[in-house]
Parts: sequence; structure tokens; C-alpha cells
Amino acid sequence: MADKIQIFDTTLRDGEQVPGCQLKTEEKLMVARELEALGVDVIEAGFPISSPGDFLSVVEISKAVKEPVVCGLTRAKKEDIDVAAEALHHAKRGRIHTGIGASDVHIKHKFRSTREQVLEQGVWAVQYAKSKGYEVEFYAEDAGRADLPFLAQLIESVIAAGADVVNIPDTTGYCLPHLYGRRIQYLVEHVKNIDRAVISVHCHNDLGMATANTLAGLINGARQAEVTINGIGERAGNTSLEEVAMAIKTHKDLNLYTNIKSERIFEISNLVSELMRMPVQPNKAIVGRNAFAHSSGIHQDGFLKHAENYEIINPADVGVPSSSIVLTARSGRAALRHRVEQLGYHVQGEELNQLYENFLLVADEKGNVENDDLHVLMANQAVLAR
Ligand code: KIV
Ligand code: ZN
Repeated sequence: MADKIQIFDTTLRDGEQVPGCQLKTEEKLMVARELEALGVDVIEAGFPISSPGDFLSVVEISKAVKEPVVCGLTRAKKEDIDVAAEALHHAKRGRIHTGIGASDVHIKHKFRSTREQVLEQGVWAVQYAKSKGYEVEFYAEDAGRADLPFLAQLIESVIAAGADVVNIPDTTGYCLPHLYGRRIQYLVEHVKNIDRAVISVHCHNDLGMATANTLAGLINGARQAEVTINGIGERAGNTSLEEVAMAIKTHKDLNLYTNIKSERIFEISNLVSELMRMPVQPNKAIVGRNAFAHSSGIHQDGFLKHAENYEIINPADVGVPSSSIVLTARSGRAALRHRVEQLGYHVQGEELNQLYENFLLVADEKGNVENDDLHVLMANQAVLAR
């Protein structure tokens, strides 16, 4: 039987931290409702102590959503946990996400502390958060660069203290997929009480590895993926929800599944991009403008013969209305003929050759050839044929 992967969406927390992407409470509510409709399991709604606005957003999202767990971020500090607990009061199922740095670099240069003190503070934070009556997720910040035996000791201790979920973030996007996968495997093999918690993967994209690392973590035993819509997030971003969901759906051999209603992906991608004023790069996997656009003659010809020649995902599965054929000077006769037939013309043989030559002149001049240009080309052709 396939294993369920919990989708933990942090668009409204890690994603919203990006300069210029801040949302008002009403906008966060719109996104939260769409995330619920999309089928995410957990919504990280904000970092309640960070500002009154974020506190209010966590309160309102807790009231508004019914199915997903609502999560609030904290540091391993009493005041953070108190404020998060208050913000989550109305949640049907609330989760406090608390944690502390686990790598030596963070321990020494961020906390100016020691491994022993960090472990003690992490355990205390989990126990204190647990005493508030919520689910507790612990994050070991910068776990991607942490000493593995120490990381295992820390994770074992916080699980013993009551953590329900243990998050192993590659905070700096440092890991390569096989190394991140091995980290998760090491924890599965060396943390004695690991069966009492869900392992979560949270990857950043500094080396462009976030999705690959997330999948490597899942393949090695993690059962929750922390992701954002369009992969937005600190610096080069977080793992993108749509990439993980569609990789799992496309690769049935992984024997995993999510509850994501993939046909809603494109709509929420547009909503987040618009509200956060963050355009999606045209070649972004799954949701970019060019993700289902075919522009070279060889590809267009193959695609028109059989879509699966060049598409591994049916655009309708992610809510994209249709694939597109972009007409440029690299397009061939097959694509040109297909488009003019869609416009109601019929051309073949020598007439098509003549049209194609004229089309290339326009394409070299303009780049993309649009339908209006084709109407003009067809009209000119008709005049010449008289
Ligand atoms: O990247 C990270 O380590 C985080 C934690 C706060 C979970 O976002
Ligand atoms: Zn992060």
C-alpha cells in the first residue's frame, strides 16, 4: 500500500518572509482558504510573536479553516510559545512549531552557546509547548550542516520530551540530494524512538536542490514535506509544493501519495504570485508560462503527432487550460499548418511552402508570430494567388 505524505505549506510564513511579499490579514485568509481547497494537511499561518499583524493572521486563519492543522512558528522561548498558544486558540487542530539551531556554526556564532545548552533548551521548549495542549513540531535549524551523531541525540531527546513531528531543515540549501537522503536515513537508523514521531523535510533552494532534496528525504523515510506555492521563500526560495506533489503523482513507483487536488495548482499559483507581487519565472516547472509551451519545430511536430512525445504531465491535471504551440522562426511547417487550420484556413503543398517562407520573414522580424500576423499573411497569399 502507498504511504501518505503530509503536505505542510509554509507559503504564509517562510514564503511571506521575503521582502516585498508581506500580506495583509485578509490576503492571508484568501490564500489559506485556497490552500485548504487544494488539500494541504498543515498550514503554517505565521510567526505570531513577530508582529501584531502576524498574530492576527494566525488567529483569523485558525477560525477560518476546518480541515488542515494550523501551525504557528516560535523560537525556543517562553514568550514566543505563550503568544503562539494564544494565537492558535480557535484552531480545530493547532500546532506549535518550535526549535533551535543544531549546527555548530549556529550554536557558536548565532546562539553563542554549546551543544549541551542547545539540547537542554530544545527539550525544555518542546515540553513547554506540549503543556499548552497543542501538537508540537520541533525544528533543528541548519540540520543540513549539523554533526550527525549530535543531531540524532537532539532528535531523540525532543521526541522523548513529546515532539510529534521532527523537522530536519536544510536551512541554507547546502546539501546535495544523496547527502540529505543519507541524513534522513541515519536518523531513521540511529534515533531509537523515531517511530514515535513523523520526520519532516524542509529544504531551501540555494543550490537549486530543494525539490530533489525533499524527494530524497521522503524516499529515505520522511513522511511530511514542507513546501511553498511557486517555491517562494528566503533567498533562493523553499521547495515548491507543485513540484513535489507532481513528482509524487507522476512517479507511481515511489509508492507515495498526497491529498493535493492537483487540478487546483495553477489557480493558487496565480493567486500567490499576484498577491505577493512575485512573478513566476517563465520556465518554472509545472506553473511557468512556458511549462506547457512548445516552440521548436522538432518538438512541435512530435507533440502534434502525440502529446506524450513531449509532455509528461497533462496540463489539465494541474489546471492549465491547454498546452500551447508558440510560433517563432524555429517552428516548422507542421506547427504553422496546425495553427492556420485552427484559424479556419486550409493550406497544403506548394501553398504551405509559400506561406512558410513568408512566415519566416515575419518571425525573424518579430520573434513571436501571433494570430493577427497569420491572418495578414493568409490575406496577402490570397491576393497573390489571384
Ligand atoms: O529554514 C529553516 O530552518 C526554517 C525553520 C524556522 C523551520 O524555516
Ligand atoms: Zn525555512
